[in-house]
Amino acid sequence: MPGDRVGIVGVSGYLGGELARLLTDHPGLNLVGAVSRSQAGKTLQECLPFVSDGANVPILPSTETLDCDLAFLSLPPGEAMTQVPRLRERGIRAIDLSADYRLKDPAAYERTYGRPHTDPEGLSKAVYGLTEMERGEIGAAGVVASPGCYPTAFLLGCRPIVDAGVVPREFVIDAKSGSSGAGASPTAETHHPAVAGDVHPYGGGNHRHLPEIAQELGVKEGDQVPEIVFVPHLVPLVRGILTTSYLVGLSEDQEGRAIEAVRSTYAAEPFVRLGPVPRIPWAIGSNRCFLGTESHGGTLVVFSAIDNLLKGGAGQAVQNANLMLGRPETEGLPLGGLGL
Ligand SMILES: NC(=O)c1ccc[n+]([C@@H]2O[C@H](COP(=O)([O-])OP(=O)(O)OC[C@H]3O[C@@H](n4cnc5c(N)ncnc54)[C@H](OP(=O)(O)O)[C@@H]3O)[C@@H](O)[C@H]2O)c1
Repeated sequence: MPGDRVGIVGVSGYLGGELARLLTDHPGLNLVGAVSRSQAGKTLQECLPFVSDGANVPILPSTETLDCDLAFLSLPPGEAMTQVPRLRERGIRAIDLSADYRLKDPAAYERTYGRPHTDPEGLSKAVYGLTEMERGEIGAAGVVASPGCYPTAFLLGCRPIVDAGVVPREFVIDAKSGSSGAGASPTAETHHPAVAGDVHPYGGGNHRHLPEIAQELGVKEGDQVPEIVFVPHLVPLVRGILTTSYLVGLSEDQEGRAIEAVRSTYAAEPFVRLGPVPRIPWAIGSNRCFLGTESHGGTLVVFSAIDNLLKGGAGQAVQNANLMLGRPETEGLPLGGLGL
């Protein structure tokens, strides 16, 4: 099959599986190999029977033998930064779906993830991959840092507002996520019996996505700096995220400007739709983010629904790969959601 050669590292995980599903159906990218320590020696089809085609895609034991133009790394935090420098030496571009290249300041990375950053050179050149906001830089990037799933949902709704100069006194972000956001290895907090009958706040006010959200809000010098309160919850769903963001302390004029900023930013965007208060199932199976707003007299509420495994993960990564490899941005990506 012609097309740029891509590979997946961490294919046995949830995002790895979703990447495999998208890339085996992609008309312009050629999935030539995948890496998994636990599944090495199998074919992709043996490892992931649900993909449409993968009988000729080998699963390799290590990234060292993966030969491709661009590699997707869907690994636990701390792993990608050990692998990206070696890929760079071999001329292979990378999209990291973990947090290793998201925080621009290595000290902030160490504070947040409890370990020093081992690839400051790569970090200094990495581009944050929130596609609709960073499109100009993504195409030529050697390393793209895929945004976290919660930051994707929140920032798509609220970055245009701050970019338009409307800065609330406070952002209160109430976020709900399905359990696949925690990855394939169950823990006492995330396995089925613990989440199936509960709605459970977590993170203790100190979730790792908070520094990323603050960094990417990009409040400009001279603006008032808003307080950000971020409370994620696990809900009894497998896929999907809904963020309900309260922008506190806006005048009527600011509310109008905020809604207009969101409307005009996304008027021609294929993967963001502003409409009524969104439902999570609209976004499931789709690479779209669904946004809605509500005015509550001085507090504007911005709702954002995404599929964490697509727009919040593998879908956004493929959107960025399309840009990096000169393909149409929407190629190989689902627009419609399941709805139920
Ligand atoms: N799940 C989401 O909704 C989501 C969304 C956005 C971003 N992310 C981020 O994307 C990354 C991948 O997420 P995921 O949910 O796909 O994770 P996952 O289900 O836990 O999969 C990670 C994979 O990495 C491989 N791996 C390689 N080295 C490893 C090591 N030292 N320890 C453990 N596993 C290792 C494992 O496969 P082998 O053991 O077979 O090698 C595993 O299947 C994470 O950093 C996550 O924070 C996740």
